[in-house]
Amino acid sequence: MKVAFTSDNIAGASESVFKAMMEAAQGDAMPYGNDDGTAQVTRMLSELFECDVDVFLVSTGTAANSLGVSAFTPPWGSVLCHTESHLLNDECTAPEFYTSGARFVGIGGVDAKMDPVQLQKLVNQKIGDVHSCQPSIISLSQVTEVGSVYSLEEIHAITDVAKTAGLPVHMDGARFANALLALGCSPAEMTWKAGVDIVSFGATKNGVMASEAIVVFKQALEDKGISSEKVAKELGYRRKRGGHLHSKMRLLSSQMIAYLTDDLWRTNATHANAMMALLQDGLKTVPGVKINTPAQANMLFCTLPEGMEDYLLAEGYAFYGGRWEEGVVRLVTSFRTPKEGVEAFIASAKAFAAQ
Ligand SMILES: Cc1ncc(COP(=O)(O)O)c(C=O)c1O
Repeated sequence: MKVAFTSDNIAGASESVFKAMMEAAQGDAMPYGNDDGTAQVTRMLSELFECDVDVFLVSTGTAANSLGVSAFTPPWGSVLCHTESHLLNDECTAPEFYTSGARFVGIGGVDAKMDPVQLQKLVNQKIGDVHSCQPSIISLSQVTEVGSVYSLEEIHAITDVAKTAGLPVHMDGARFANALLALGCSPAEMTWKAGVDIVSFGATKNGVMASEAIVVFKQALEDKGISSEKVAKELGYRRKRGGHLHSKMRLLSSQMIAYLTDDLWRTNATHANAMMALLQDGLKTVPGVKINTPAQANMLFCTLPEGMEDYLLAEGYAFYGGRWEEGVVRLVTSFRTPKEGVEAFIASAKAFAAQ
């Protein structure tokens, strides 16, 4: 098979992550997160985010998102998120399951970014009306599901609405590192300094085998009058009840430690983003290819001219298509995408266009 742009989770794990897991598998360690490694993850993430955080490791992004928002959302509550969001479309009602049936309300907006004006209307709708669900949390995806990235100003526009409504803000950071590098800011600037209270800090798509961190910014919550202690307690029980309190938590922690050591997360995301920039620049020169949403990180949606999708698939390349409008395909690069593979893909697309 030639290069595959199917997803960033088709790539396995970085070698240091693997080694760390192997080492963590030696000897004994206390179970259920009471090991030294898990405590170290909290210290490392506190350092990374430059503030005091609570951390809950889980093994999927769906669990991180669903559990994260559930701690703030009663069954009669609502989660406001983009109509294209993973929470709304790609988690098979796990968010409804974990929240015991809360409502997920889709907000529109271009490039899969919530429109703050639409959001403003909905955060205030029927507050206190016993007949209606009650807005409980706002969730934004960074990178978005179409490969765009909220600028800091755009995050602030969303979190300002949340602040006036007294609502907490969750960030689905399945591609946190890719977004951060696209913006060139610090993790603190993209999150709590921009009004975000809780983040699903993804690692699996960027070099880890299976480890995602729910990161809670304690002071940010306190500033909104929400007890961070209560949230932490809830998340603890909810994670166990949801089946994500791994008994051998050290295997998840060891991956996260390796991911955060020597800036592996930055190195990996830098490569993935660079490969996407190369791919996008190349595709722009191919006659008939239309870039639908300019890729800012490592995911691109584009429309291929008639016949090109089948041709490229027949050539042995892999990517998702046929799920959206005619000719629309999704291309995703990862920490392992080979440069030669990207160049070969562009050459093949050009060869088709020249026929
Ligand atoms: C935006 C977004 N959020 C969350 C996830 C995590 O999902 P999973 O449960 O597959 O790890 C994904 C994975 O595709 C994603 O694209």
